[in-house]
Amino acid sequence: MTVTENSKSQGPAAQRPRVLSGMRPTGKLHLGNYMGALANWVKLQDQYECYFFIADWHALTTEYADPSQIAPNTLEVLLDYLASGLDPAKSVLFLQSRVRQHAELALLLGMSTPLGWLERVPSYKEMQENLANKDLTTYGFLGYPVLMAADILIYQPDFVPVGQDQQAHVELTREIARRFNQFYAPMKLFVCGGLGRSDTPPTVLTAPERQVLPEPKVLLTPSPKLPGTDGRKMSKSYGNTILMSDPEPVVRQKLKTMVTDPARIRRTDKGDPDKCPVGDLHKVFSTLETMARVYEGCRSAGIGCIECKSWAADALVKILGPIQERRASVTEAQAIEILNEGSRRAEVRAEQTMVEVREAMQMALTTVAPA
Ligand code: TRP
Ligand code: SF4
Repeated sequence: MTVTENSKSQGPAAQRPRVLSGMRPTGKLHLGNYMGALANWVKLQDQYECYFFIADWHALTTEYADPSQIAPNTLEVLLDYLASGLDPAKSVLFLQSRVRQHAELALLLGMSTPLGWLERVPSYKEMQENLANKDLTTYGFLGYPVLMAADILIYQPDFVPVGQDQQAHVELTREIARRFNQFYAPMKLFVCGGLGRSDTPPTVLTAPERQVLPEPKVLLTPSPKLPGTDGRKMSKSYGNTILMSDPEPVVRQKLKTMVTDPARIRRTDKGDPDKCPVGDLHKVFSTLETMARVYEGCRSAGIGCIECKSWAADALVKILGPIQERRASVTEAQAIEILNEGSRRAEVRAEQTMVEVREAMQMALTTVAPA
């Protein structure tokens, strides 16, 4: 394992608590993805042993009829991971489908996961209704949370940093782990007494030795409310996003069309930044000085929305600058090599857990005593 500058001062990376998280390859990521996940992951890199991956098999659960966009989208997400500051010297960055052990563990966990648990996942029915143009009455789609549990548990992480939308999935992962551990805890024998000095024979006790799949905790990502250009939550499915890779003119153009406080129709109308999506952007990205000018100018009609939006655009461009510089500094070939190398490292770690899992489930022939 590479020891980076930072890990030197904090002990070997392997002794830090471990975190694991991932995203489906949905294409170029937007500011909501950055603020809601990536910016947080980047910070975690210096304190945790980090595994971050791209869940291309999870994309297949909804895109199985036309998988043509999954590979190109994976590359875009990878470039955005690197652009945001995820660093292969600090974190293991990998691709789900390169670590076949995820599929093996998903199969094994599926044996003991009750159907009812999967049917009750809130997003199950909801997604089927929202994506009514796709046939999601499939085994793979129902099994989404089992695959996700395998993604997580195979790295035996302490924490899973996710947004609120994924919390139910991590809770289910904990339940799947608990059930697995109940069935397959490797037992340890304890021999008490009977050392020959008394008449009492030795007592043999058994107790679970350790949990093969410890239950990880959710690490809720604190995410500010980030509106899209139409004022609703920024989301790819609403088509209201500002992309991490949008060039400056595009950012400025998108801001120009952004909705504002509906009470402020004319330049002379007073407005309220607390009722305006542009105001919300300022709260997340602007300096306190700019914020003060926004509150003052908007409430007194001293500034116009065009000016106010140009300040918000300035703040966005400033945040996006270093991100886009990093994106431009890595070639596709380099990014793919990073993913290849990370996937090799992830596989080594995943196989380590699978050796324990196969043994706990008594699937390891080598543990059978010779006749
Ligand atoms: N379900 C997650 C999402 O839609 C992606 C994901 C798959 C994931 N496996 C995971 C996230 C494991 C965290 C841990 O974004
Ligand atoms: Fe919104 Fe700014 Fe216009 Fe006020 S001045 S309504 S905060 S865009």
